[in-house]
Amino acid sequence: MRVLSGVQPSGKLHLGNYFGAMKQHIDGQQEHESFIFIANYHALTTIQDAALLRELTRDVALDYLALGLDPDKACLFRQSDVPEVTELAWILSTVTGKGLLERAVSYKDKVGRGLSPSMGLFNYPILQAADILIYRSEAVPVGKDQVQHIEMTADMAGYFNNTYGCEVLVIPKARLNEAAVVPGVDGEKMSKSYGNTIDLFDEPKQARKRIMGLKTDSTPVEDPKDPDSCNVFALLRLFADADEASDWARRYRQGPMGYGEAKQRLAVLFEERFGPARERRRELAANPNHVEDILATGGRRARAVAQAVMTDVRDACGIVKAES
Ligand code: ADP
Ligand code: TRP
Repeated sequence: MRVLSGVQPSGKLHLGNYFGAMKQHIDGQQEHESFIFIANYHALTTIQDAALLRELTRDVALDYLALGLDPDKACLFRQSDVPEVTELAWILSTVTGKGLLERAVSYKDKVGRGLSPSMGLFNYPILQAADILIYRSEAVPVGKDQVQHIEMTADMAGYFNNTYGCEVLVIPKARLNEAAVVPGVDGEKMSKSYGNTIDLFDEPKQARKRIMGLKTDSTPVEDPKDPDSCNVFALLRLFADADEASDWARRYRQGPMGYGEAKQRLAVLFEERFGPARERRRELAANPNHVEDILATGGRRARAVAQAVMTDVRDACGIVKAES
């Protein structure tokens, strides 16, 4: 099965990005043919500073590689190394009604948060559909907030196939993972726009400080507590194995147990998981040519697939080709 996902290079990655999306991408490389790309064309809807965009693009590559993405297994590339996606986005826009895009929740959210309502932001889901369809991706692992975009992608594939009476585009499915919504330090959805993140590559001291600052209620140590309504537990269970998680749940319910103790354990587990990755990231960052080679190789591999699909797309809609 071909599995594809993209991440925008729009800032430092946090635990929500990791458990909501990246971990699944990295775990999936063992079982599936995986394509993971850095959505730098999409990022132009929010980042309009060339040096910053280049830096953030490189950062995402470093993050994935440090976290264990193996470029010999998964194909890691930059969206812009396959410029054909913009051509497919145009073609899809000609079979897609404006009403579909007007229903996009993420567009409304972003405009509500003050982003400029550019045509790029409005058309964002069409480019995302092109990203997915150009590789005939079957499954798209994403967080909950992206599910609507994948459903729109399936609609757009259907419009194209119906309009041209063909089966050229494959209808994809979203795949949610176990951590649909990871809470931030304030208990709201963790998001860089809310300033409530625990970042993956913070130095240990800073990470510990964020973890110790997680908001909890004021139930006294000796009283029973509800693990299911506690942010600390919500994060702890993502790190701990099943036995340890159920042990913590029992201790919450029985008491005595202070939230501080659970936070301390979370900080240890965080460091166990991300400490080695931080080290690997440092090594990779010292060798930019190696990272560039990985991205360039991934880009060539992805582009070959995309070009073959585009030959069929062009043929289906009459952008030349057919009989000689
Ligand atoms: P942010 O909200 O910080 O801007 P993005 O929108 O760039 O994050 O999200 C990138 C990916 O990470 C998406 O697939 C999204 O679903 C996932 N993601 C982000 N935050 C969370 C969260 N708190 N819980 C689960 N998944 C998340
Ligand atoms: N919109 C996605 C996000 O904000 C990023 C993205 C762009 C993507 N193209 C994609 C995700 C294709 C999956 C498939 O997280």
